[in-house]
Amino acid sequence: MAGDLTVKLGERSYDIKFGRGIANQAGRFCSDLDMGNHVAVVSNPTVWKYWGKPIFESLTAAGFTVHKVEIPDGESFKNNESLNIIYDFLIEEGLDRQSFLVALGGGVIGDITGYAASTFLRGIPFIQIPTTLLAQVDSSVGGKTGINHRLGKNLIGAFYQPRLVIIDSSMLDTLPEREYLSGLAEVVKYGVVCDGRFFQFLESSVEKLLSRDSDCVLETVRKCCELKASVVERDEREGSYRAVLNFGHTFAHAIEKLTEYSQFLHGEAVAIGMVHSAKLSESKGYASAEDTMRIVSLLKSLHLPTEFTGFSSDDYRSVMLRDKKVREGGINFVFNKGLGNSLIERVTDWDCLLKNVVQ
Ligand code: NAD
Ligand code: GLY
Repeated sequence: MAGDLTVKLGERSYDIKFGRGIANQAGRFCSDLDMGNHVAVVSNPTVWKYWGKPIFESLTAAGFTVHKVEIPDGESFKNNESLNIIYDFLIEEGLDRQSFLVALGGGVIGDITGYAASTFLRGIPFIQIPTTLLAQVDSSVGGKTGINHRLGKNLIGAFYQPRLVIIDSSMLDTLPEREYLSGLAEVVKYGVVCDGRFFQFLESSVEKLLSRDSDCVLETVRKCCELKASVVERDEREGSYRAVLNFGHTFAHAIEKLTEYSQFLHGEAVAIGMVHSAKLSESKGYASAEDTMRIVSLLKSLHLPTEFTGFSSDDYRSVMLRDKKVREGGINFVFNKGLGNSLIERVTDWDCLLKNVVQ
């Protein structure tokens, strides 16, 4: 079993447990944390069908009174109505401050459950049991929680750290192929902006990653969590440095918006956005043509898209100017510095930003 990690944030520190088949120890892990006797497991019907029973049984066997809260599956339900379903349930069932929540699902469930926990009775504990690759390598760690507003994604939220993250790689066995590959885009991101040796490891592990070799997947997920933890420990509330994790995301958000969230999964848009950002980094002299070529080639070998045509630089510009991170016409943009390093620079010249990447 891969060794556990601790995210070191003073009194908000917590462990990430890794292993294959460890979800059925969830009850025992929670018993060690003194979070109260009542637990509400928040999930959706898709995830519950596969993974609800072992989690429910493990928590029950450990002596907890277990409640199940289901919200509909999908990004379009990461909203106020679903949040109210959770609040209504918790209030009607009489959960009090001696209670905690379990987020059992992908990033949507993790984000909304964390936000519910941060606000219910002014804050009760929660733990994350992420079931998608994206959630295991990114969203379950670091404490960004929230919901979407009709005027934009993730506009309502809070920084609120979980008390524990349980990463069971066997949960990925039921994940559809496209979702799994999409999660690999965020994996590649860590190699590009945080760790060149990890990028090399990914280049040499393509076959194993594609076949979901269990040791390789677990090692990869653990490495991503280690890298994410070190970023979050340095800049928990995204004062500046944490933004390196947004590499490729400014373009990705524009692509998702231009295609009305219907053509690409998030990781697929991130893959294209990373190629745009790499080309830009190359044009600025921060990275070489070979670096860009290696990024493109790794993404292609992982069956991820690397280009997107059909929209002009004017289309991109109009959407990007509405990005919530734009301030006074400029944006803090993440560039890769070679492979394994990054820098953040304020960009106001949109022509320059777009000319090298959008034909
Ligand atoms: P998701 O949660 O919608 O899950 C994708 C699909 O896979 C869903 O249909 C889900 O029901 C299904 N699924 C989940 N686990 C499964 C399993 N083991 N077997 C079979 N099906 C399974 O999407 P996601 O990609 O996990 O997360 C995307 C969300 O994460 C977005 O809302 C995004 O804003 C958020 N996010 C948050 C952070 C953060 O730091 N908090 C970071 C990145 C993304
Ligand atoms: N997913 C980016 C972050 O957690 O900051």
